[in-house]
Amino acid sequence: KLPGSYLFSTVGKKVKAYSEAHPDKKVIRLGIGDVTQPLVPAIIKAMHEAVDEMGNADTFHGYAPDLGYEFLRSAMAKNDYQDRGCDIKADEIFISDGAKCDSGNIQEIFAKDNKIAVCDPVYPVYFDTNVMAGRRIKFISANEGNGFLPMPTEDDKADLIYICSPNNPTGAVFEHEKLKAWVDYANKNGAVLIFDAAYEAFIGDNNLPHSIFEIEGSRDCAIEICSLSKTAGFTGVRCGYTIIPKTLKRKGMCLNDMWVRNRTTKTNGVSYIVQRGAAAVFSEEGQRQVKENLAVYRGNAKTLMKAFDNCGIWYCGGENAPYIWFKCPNNMTSWECFDLLLNEKQIIGTPGVGFGKCGEGYFRLSSFGDTEETKE
Ligand code: MLT
Repeated sequence: KLPGSYLFSTVGKKVKAYSEAHPDKKVIRLGIGDVTQPLVPAIIKAMHEAVDEMGNADTFHGYAPDLGYEFLRSAMAKNDYQDRGCDIKADEIFISDGAKCDSGNIQEIFAKDNKIAVCDPVYPVYFDTNVMAGRRIKFISANEGNGFLPMPTEDDKADLIYICSPNNPTGAVFEHEKLKAWVDYANKNGAVLIFDAAYEAFIGDNNLPHSIFEIEGSRDCAIEICSLSKTAGFTGVRCGYTIIPKTLKRKGMCLNDMWVRNRTTKTNGVSYIVQRGAAAVFSEEGQRQVKENLAVYRGNAKTLMKAFDNCGIWYCGGENAPYIWFKCPNNMTSWECFDLLLNEKQIIGTPGVGFGKCGEGYFRLSSFGDTEETKE
């Protein structure tokens, strides 16, 4: 049931083959959501200091605490949750080497016969990892009709439901009342929501929720997965975090305890140096500096949106999300659009159908590229 290779590996192979055949052509990379702005000075300073500590016997650090250093977990709990009115404490946060790993691994604490539901189109990791675990997966159709924000129906009965907002790949963002409907549905049916908030830093509209824990009732049904990859340029550094409220229980079992058991068995976590760099993101200076980088990507998104507006091509996303999801013109399929853009204009994007059947005929561009190249 799995495609032969991971979506972004397939795209990468095609681009490599093109570049080898046309070494003289410069390609514009708006495909995988990889950041281009360097780490900000506050992060670099913190990591340099941490490196120096590691070279001194008095300040050296060996294994990190199982679930992450207290200084980082507390900074996240305050800055990302308590300051937004969310009732999340430091001991409900698990530090990891990224949201991709957590969103792939979290299914391990659920039973093999649990029914899984994902939206279509979908970030492939949720689907692929559950297929690898031998589960059946139900698709919830996201489309132009529902604004790529599907709502629960009685047909979507599942034990585990993945939701990503701001959405990868479509850039659509759930409002409070729509998320509340998912939370109510999960609580009524005993389902667990896996909420991927990796792109929350791109929300500019103050009325939109950044976290599932802004929604009443979510402590009893939701797990949130977040990341510093896109917020602070950590795609190569690697640091993410997963929040499991201690109140989340199923059949008397506490999911926080189960994830503690899983993580302490399978990983030694994230290095001290990286966790110091991550903590700097939450300092006043770090926040100011990462926001400057985010503004560059927002500017890129505006450039792309304006271009699509001028061409009269339908798209969503870009407003509160780093991805633009557009409808391929002239009834092209997603891969036809990919080949056309690569061969004729040397622009790399991601074919919508790679994210699921409902993505056929659509195409994703990323705003994480170089600003001059994005304008070009
Ligand atoms: C994407 O392009 O969808 C993301 O960069 C992939 C990821 O975060 O793993």
